[in-house]
Amino acid sequence: MKPTVIAVAGKGGTGKTTICGLIIQHLAESGKGPILAVDADPNSNLNEVLGVEVEMTLGDIREKLKFQDSIADELPPNMTKQEYTEFMFGDALIEGDDFDLLVMGRTQGPGCYCYINGVLKAQIDKYQSGYRYLVVDNEAGLEHISRGILPHVDILLLVSDASRRGVQAAGRAAEMVREQNMNPKMMKLIVNRAPGGKLDEGVMEEIKKQGLDLLGVLPNDEAIYRYDAEGRPSSTVPKDNPVRQALRETLAKIDL
Ligand SMILES: Nc1ncnc2c1ncn2[C@@H]1O[C@H](COP(=O)(O)OP(=O)(O)OP(=O)(O)O)[C@@H](O)[C@H]1O
Ligand SMILES: [Mg+2]
Repeated sequence: MKPTVIAVAGKGGTGKTTICGLIIQHLAESGKGPILAVDADPNSNLNEVLGVEVEMTLGDIREKLKFQDSIADELPPNMTKQEYTEFMFGDALIEGDDFDLLVMGRTQGPGCYCYINGVLKAQIDKYQSGYRYLVVDNEAGLEHISRGILPHVDILLLVSDASRRGVQAAGRAAEMVREQNMNPKMMKLIVNRAPGGKLDEGVMEEIKKQGLDLLGVLPNDEAIYRYDAEGRPSSTVPKDNPVRQALRETLAKIDL
């Protein structure tokens, strides 16, 4: 099985993680599992939006593997280094009823990670075949994707706030995606936190000017903000929440 890979990207604080969480929630609810959620932001917090605990990240494992000598001391008897590595990777996969979650964790420190990134990539390739959807929350630079550690993206969703400058930043992000030859099958814009769920004409003009393809507009919503502020998983807001509703309509346009 080759999963559909959905990646969410955009400027800091625009609502990428919240939208990722809501997409995962929506797919799970519509019976479109199995789903693998991937937190590829080094400042990982997708688990908070989803309401799951994280004990180990792939970054932690990578740090362990970096010091190849110390891992030799840790090897359980009768286990090769490769077996031990796979065993640890298994630990980093958080399995839930509706979705599984993999947290990439912090990225490169000093030193060469080529070998370890290779191991990571092979492991993720192996995992992905068990899922119908991969939903990836990213940092602005899309580093794991551009390095090829994460698989090729099918649907890239750029998230912007409802400002002209926000849309300009989304335009630059789209430019970066083109420059890096990521070639997603589909790249669309979602405008988040629009006052009253409506887009200003000036912002609409800017979207056209940037050559962006607007998929949907999500309203600024008190409940989403409140849940987050109170430390409750915002993907669990009631089903009739305006952002959830608008996102459902938005995703339906691309058959999700
Ligand atoms: N539609 C919305 N209405 C109200 N608040 C929202 C909405 N979307 C997101 N937020 C709030 O905005 C803040 C930032 O959201 P979020 O963490 O999802 O953004 P992000 O793009 O992932 O940020 P970062 O770049 O830091 O990873 C959070 O407090 C979140 O609850
Ligand atoms: Mg985030």
